Amino acid sequence: MEGEVPVMKNARLIPDTPTLYPSMLLGRTRAQRLPPFAGGDVHWYFLARNAIVEACRLLDLGGGEILMPAYHHGVEVEAVAAAGALPVFYQVDAHWQVDLADLERRIGPNTRALYLIHYAGFPGPAVRMRQLANEYGVSLIEDCALSLLSTDGTFDLGARGDVSIFCLYKSLPVPNGGALKFNKPRHGTCKKLRSPPMATVLSLTLSSMLLNLEMRAGAVGSLLRAAIRRLAHGVVDITRIERVAVGTMHFNPEHADLGISPLTLSIARRQSMDTIVATRRRNYLMLLERLDGLSPSLFDRLDPGVCPLFYPLWVNDKPAMLKRLEGRGIRAIDFWGEHHPSCDPVEFPEAMRARRHILEIPCHQDLSPATMDWIADEVKLALRASEPEMDPAAVAHG
Ligand SMILES: Cc1ncc(COP(=O)(O)O)c(C=O)c1O
Repeated sequence: MEGEVPVMKNARLIPDTPTLYPSMLLGRTRAQRLPPFAGGDVHWYFLARNAIVEACRLLDLGGGEILMPAYHHGVEVEAVAAAGALPVFYQVDAHWQVDLADLERRIGPNTRALYLIHYAGFPGPAVRMRQLANEYGVSLIEDCALSLLSTDGTFDLGARGDVSIFCLYKSLPVPNGGALKFNKPRHGTCKKLRSPPMATVLSLTLSSMLLNLEMRAGAVGSLLRAAIRRLAHGVVDITRIERVAVGTMHFNPEHADLGISPLTLSIARRQSMDTIVATRRRNYLMLLERLDGLSPSLFDRLDPGVCPLFYPLWVNDKPAMLKRLEGRGIRAIDFWGEHHPSCDPVEFPEAMRARRHILEIPCHQDLSPATMDWIADEVKLALRASEPEMDPAAVAHG
């Protein structure tokens, strides 16, 4: 997308994920064991999708059905299929609520596991799904790829599944990282992993630092970033260094055995998790208050313990809003516009409605109150220009 939309005067770069400050490479280590992993049996991977495949193997789910939400990214579905299991979908409404009756109706003789996704830090019904899993004698996989550091007020998300899956690079300024946490004794050993290519790790780290520079230094940072990127791409082209992409839509079996980079763990251990949670909550609440009455909020409050990954903004015309915000430098993301091809859109109209209408507005820990004020103003202007017909009350009811 970069460069496609003309960036307007007074635009500022607002990255969609947190960026790396150089000082984070050297600061003091705060925690040897990161929450929510303290004390658990945890294995680390280059990406969370690798952890999903490994979870299916160790829970012996191959050949069976896994009940998955119709509202999904797509790569987690690919990972389950790559592990030899059959994804079968259940209903989720446009407000991200699991239809538990529908889920229970779909449990059958071939069901081996229930798969719960906690969306953007907001807790899903883990307690009830744990009960259902126990009742029917199947496993529960809790996908917290979008919910690192979030709790349900009492427990960390990811505490109730037989296993839970985490992604680090969406919430922390790290170049890669996924985790698999076992909450029950596991049968079998985890596969041996190989180190990720050093060039990839360094290039992702540099790219995050350059984004940070551009975010803070404006036009000068932008010029510097462009020049360094050109140089780095030239080096990669000449030397034909292997590059492994992060954040793609598809599972690549060639990269399934890649482990996490030590640099990721080192940066992660230097973060103040409490500050991250507090900052994300503050930023989210600013948007909730400032956008009140202009766009319907998916959640009208922020429960204690929730660490929001982004602000889910409900819009009628996603492409128009995305283009406008991109022109102001705000990296809003089209949240899950596409469904996995094995999921029938006609059978799941509510999940499809969420796909058509929700985009992500950044509220991460790099963003100060003044920046959030500016973002809120820009989102309001964009909403007024692109969404003159929006009636927040009507949207909530479909
Ligand atoms: C719900 C969910 N699970 C798993 C993943 C896979 O994460 P990763 O990119 O670390 O493989 C994603 C990626 O976006 C996701 O949204």
